[in-house]
Amino acid sequence: MRHDQEGPPGDPLSGLLDQVRRSLRDLGGGAPASYIPELSRVDPDLFGLSLCALDGQVYGSGDTQVPFTVQSVSKPFVFALALADRGLEEVLTRVGAEPSGEAFNSIRLEPGTGRPPNPMVNAGAIVTTSLVAGDTPEARFDRILDGLSAFAARPLAVDEAVYASERATGDRNRALAYLMHNAGSLTGDVEDQLDVYFRQCSVLVTCDDLAVMHATLAAGGVNPVSGTRVVAPRHAQHVLAVMATCGMYDASGQWMLQVGMPAKSGVSGAIGVALPGQFGIGVFSPPLEEKGNSVRGIAACHLLSDQFGLHLM
Ligand code: DON
Repeated sequence: MRHDQEGPPGDPLSGLLDQVRRSLRDLGGGAPASYIPELSRVDPDLFGLSLCALDGQVYGSGDTQVPFTVQSVSKPFVFALALADRGLEEVLTRVGAEPSGEAFNSIRLEPGTGRPPNPMVNAGAIVTTSLVAGDTPEARFDRILDGLSAFAARPLAVDEAVYASERATGDRNRALAYLMHNAGSLTGDVEDQLDVYFRQCSVLVTCDDLAVMHATLAAGGVNPVSGTRVVAPRHAQHVLAVMATCGMYDASGQWMLQVGMPAKSGVSGAIGVALPGQFGIGVFSPPLEEKGNSVRGIAACHLLSDQFGLHLM
């Protein structure tokens, strides 16, 4: 499934993405996630970089159409669906909006309320997943899969092997969920809620999909490829704000300082970036640094931000 796509002649933007990707292709360091055994089987040399402009045009370089699991990059989009289904006020009674300064799987909850710190860390995402509308776990997952597909402008599917691997090895998430259930921030059947979360992390996307999904947030909730409104402008704004402050976990402050764009990373090696009013970017390269962010993905975003003056501030 590898392909080494280069921008077509006369397409300057794909040419620029190609330059960035080629300059980082030999950058070493990091390793693919191994705590979910199925994720460690990936080819570490895969590297794709895609950009979707707000006219719906998608540009790319490298492995832009190779599928991988969305993992934590699902979190902003499921937060958006929870906001659409419940409204900001209700969502905030169950999950905070403060950067935790801790790892993505941190176990610390807010004293008193028992709320997880924000929807971008695992604990917070387990709660926002549980807030998506649906009377049964199946109905909630269908709503999530349809929602992610609407953000991507194509029907997405689940990688069943990764799902089984997540579920079999997800004891830390299980512990988090039971703690939150005890504290009152997670309601309902804990195993059912976790099952929806594990399936959500196992949805397959490509770099091109990530670019389109983030372009939808950058466009205020209207998918620039399909023309469909996926979420309200206000909810897209809320999601971008939380991505800006919490999306890169305990590296979020430094990310905002140096790259200056709302972003979200996942342990499959994906990073999604949204520049409001401009475009969405998807990067995929499996080796991760110690905080769980893609080594080449971070470097590509730094380069793009510097070379093209994309920093929001
Ligand atoms: O909860 C987990 O362990 C994963 N399925 C998702 C974690 C993730 O992608 C964290 N990101 N860096």
